[in-house]
This record gives sequence, structure tokens and C-alpha cells, in this order.
Amino acid sequence: MDVPTVANGIPALGLGTYKNTGEQATESVRTALEMGYRHIDTAAYYENEAAVGAGIEAASVPREEVTVATKLWYDDLAGDDVVPAAKASLDRLGLDSVDVLYVHWPAGSYEASETMGAFNELYEQGLIENVAVSNFTPEQVATAQDHSAAPIVANQVECHPLFQQDELRDYCETEDIAVVAYAPIARGKVADVPELTDIAEKHDASEVQVSLAWLRQRDVAAIPKATGEAHIRANWESQQVTLDSDDLATIDTLAYDERLIDPGFAPW
Ligand SMILES: NC(=O)c1ccc[n+]([C@@H]2O[C@H](COP(=O)([O-])OP(=O)(O)OC[C@H]3O[C@@H](n4cnc5c(N)ncnc54)[C@H](OP(=O)(O)O)[C@@H]3O)[C@@H](O)[C@H]2O)c1
Repeated sequence: MDVPTVANGIPALGLGTYKNTGEQATESVRTALEMGYRHIDTAAYYENEAAVGAGIEAASVPREEVTVATKLWYDDLAGDDVVPAAKASLDRLGLDSVDVLYVHWPAGSYEASETMGAFNELYEQGLIENVAVSNFTPEQVATAQDHSAAPIVANQVECHPLFQQDELRDYCETEDIAVVAYAPIARGKVADVPELTDIAEKHDASEVQVSLAWLRQRDVAAIPKATGEAHIRANWESQQVTLDSDDLATIDTLAYDERLIDPGFAPW
């Protein structure tokens, strides 16, 4: 099964790896790639880039078929720190380049002109194929783009049926920026939503699969974190779930507004 893509060719389904480390992370990544996943999400902050890289190496999938995304943490975003920090990530991953490099948060030493300037150096040197941001408000995306010759291809943000990010999704659609949903199954909380249970029963699917199908059908890429083969496969099979217009409308109008990831340094 080919993975569909959202804006800028980002595969609509990827594997998240936060809090998955060591040999387990290697095995999760290898399992996912051999199942058909072509998008792997990591970050310097997760302290698993070496394990993720080992999983990419171990999988019987050509490197060039995989969208590998990592992120620089907020204390490595000063102009002089970005290039060495990105090279350290590449060393840990065992790769010559990554497909997507995100500014993890607009916080700490982030400064639009300096940080985006250094991301553009990485882009020009071919060490990153694409420049991206994470946890940026629409205004911050616009400012970052003003300071970046390279297009900003994606904004990775929390997005799931309980926190739908309508305004940000509209903005990104207008600007041709992919929205990549983190915590796309609300860390399991989607299972407790009766409306999702009803839709899941109708499709002989799970609430998790319905949530992932909703994101895909709304042109949002999702990177659910899954550790063992059963979850990795269940999420993969969400691609066989197609919601009808009533289901989509029901989910679109859920009114939960439950943001789960909200650190003190967040920009909102
Ligand atoms: N940019 C950012 O600031 C940021 C912030 C948070 C996350 N992220 C990225 O987004 C990824 C996903 O977010 P997240 O890890 O916070 O939350 P999530 O993907 O919404 O939820 C992960 C949890 O759901 C469980 N799970 C996965 N598949 C399942 C299934 N089919 N049925 C039941 N449970 C299932 C996982 O268990 P198992 O592990 O046991 O399978 C794990 O406990 C992260 O791993 C990371 O790569 C980025």
C-alpha cells in the first residue's frame, strides 16, 4: 500500500518516537518501515536518534524512500549553534542528510532571523532537504518565512479530534504548508469519546483508527507514537478506514478544546 501524502510530499502517516529509546526504538522503526511506513519522526530532545537511525539502517527499505524528520531543541537555535547541532543529529542518526529539520519550539535561543538564517545554510549545504517548524503560531510561521529563502514546508503541532486547530490548519492550507499532527490520538484519550466510539463501531474500527482517518481526510499528516507491532499495525490499517461526510461533520463539530502539551515556554 502506498502512503498518501499531504502538502509538500509529506507522507500522511508516520511513526512518532517520543519516549521510545534504545533497542526498542530500533525495533519499532524497523517494524514500521517494513510494514510500509515511509515517515519517521524523532528529535534531538528524545535522545533516541542513534536508535532510530539504527532502525532505518536495519530495515530492508531504501533510505531514499523514507522521510526522516528530526528537530533541534530550543537551546541550540542561536545562529552559531544550529549548524553544529544539526551535524550532531546527523552523526547520531548515521545519515548524510535529513528530509525535514524542524525548529522544535519557538523558545529559548530561537530568534527568527538568526535561526532561520542558519537553517538556510544547512539547506544550501544539502544537509537538510526541507526547512520546517513546530509549535509555531500562524504569526510566527509568517515571520519565520520572511527570514527564510527556503520554503517552510511544515508546521508540526498538536492536533487531534479533541484539539482541532481550525485556524492554524486554515492558515497552513492557504500558505501551502503541511500540518503534521503530533499526539494525533491524544495519547489514547480518543478512546473515551462517545461520538468516536459510535463512528468506530459503524466502521468496525477503533477510535484511534477513526481519529487517524479523520486527520488523513482533512489533509493533516499524523505521526502516532507506537511501540509494539500491534499498535504500529493498527495505526497503519487506519488507512483502510474511510469516513463519510456525516462522520467527518460529527468530528469537525466536537467541542472539546483539550490541549494536552502545554509547557511554560509555549508561545500561545
Ligand atoms: N513537536 C513537538 O513538540 C511534539 C510534542 C509531542 C509529540 N511529538 C511527536 O509526535 C509523536 C506522537 O505524539 P505522542 O507520542 O505524544 O502521542 P500519541 O501518538 O497521541 O499517543 C501515543 C500513545 O498512544 C499509544 N498508542 C499508539 N497506537 C495505539 C493504538 N493503535 N491503540 C491504542 N493505543 C495506541 C502508545 O502506546 P505504545 O507506545 O505502547 O504503542 C502511546 O502510549 C511523538 O512520539 C513525537 O514523535 C512532537
